[in-house]
Amino acid sequence: MVRCASIATSPNRWSLQGMSALVTGGTRGIGRAVVEELVGLGAKVHTCSRNSTELEKCLRDLNHSGFRVSGSVSDVSDRAQRESLMETVSSLFNGKLNIMVNNVGTNIRKPMVDFTSEEFSSLVSTNFESVFHLCQLAYPMLRASEDGCVVSVSSVSGFVSLKNMSVQSATKGAINQLTRNLACEWAKDNIRVNAVAPWYIKTSMVEQVLSNKEYLEEVYSVTPLGRLGEPKEVSSAVAFLCLPASSYITGQILCVDGGMSINGFSPRHD
Ligand SMILES: NC(=O)c1ccc[n+]([C@@H]2O[C@H](COP(=O)([O-])OP(=O)(O)OC[C@H]3O[C@@H](n4cnc5c(N)ncnc54)[C@H](OP(=O)(O)O)[C@@H]3O)[C@@H](O)[C@H]2O)c1
Repeated sequence: MVRCASIATSPNRWSLQGMSALVTGGTRGIGRAVVEELVGLGAKVHTCSRNSTELEKCLRDLNHSGFRVSGSVSDVSDRAQRESLMETVSSLFNGKLNIMVNNVGTNIRKPMVDFTSEEFSSLVSTNFESVFHLCQLAYPMLRASEDGCVVSVSSVSGFVSLKNMSVQSATKGAINQLTRNLACEWAKDNIRVNAVAPWYIKTSMVEQVLSNKEYLEEVYSVTPLGRLGEPKEVSSAVAFLCLPASSYITGQILCVDGGMSINGFSPRHD
């Protein structure tokens, strides 16, 4: 079957006007920047997080700026809460979802032999099982939209080894391969599936580890652009992968990393 690429020639290639979107973990950091980016491009956005006070404040701030964003208190590491979140999304958007951004993720840094089974389960359910199950739940809505896309927030840790991050890396590697498989499985439904893979981005999640000056210098030294990334530098990549302008891109993991993942041997003494 040959499908016509009408989207590629549409005058709205750089707009998300009329599209519906779910962004998980949108109250802070990268998720917050993604919410702002997508509403700015015209999408109707629903988000979620666990802390109700922070969520309400975030929604107030966004809606005060003229955006229309809704939200649910939901822990995506919990199966029942994922089901309830997607029921809300379905009723909000009349059973049709154009964009799902799987942003929630966390980290536990320690040697793999020191992981307890509880820590392992918690990291896997937050980072990977949530993405797998939310994709399953979203599939009928993405298909019904006839123009669906999924973007997951992975990490450079899914490509290269980072100290004390074996389990987190495994979850991100799993997201990367799920992305490639779903891109092929769901292409027939006109659902594109991509991911972005950031290196260090200035958010609350990495504040503590980066407060160590020596460590920060090490980070700069392996990053060709020589600095940390901003949440907005990730959200623009996510938005691109959601826009009709990227209609022929699927199954890709786009590194947003200042060149860290392609940096080979770069001695500090030139
Ligand atoms: N920052 C980096 O350097 C970096 C690098 C590579 C990859 N990443 C990836 O980027 C993504 C976002 O990270 P970030 O740095 O922006 O994190 P962040 O600053 O900690 O923000 C995380 C957001 O997700 C929400 N959240 C966390 N756990 C949740 C859960 N179980 N259920 C629902 N909401 C939850 C948080 O709100 P509540 O706490 O209120 O729930 C918050 O809104 C993650 O997947 C992370 O692995 C980040």
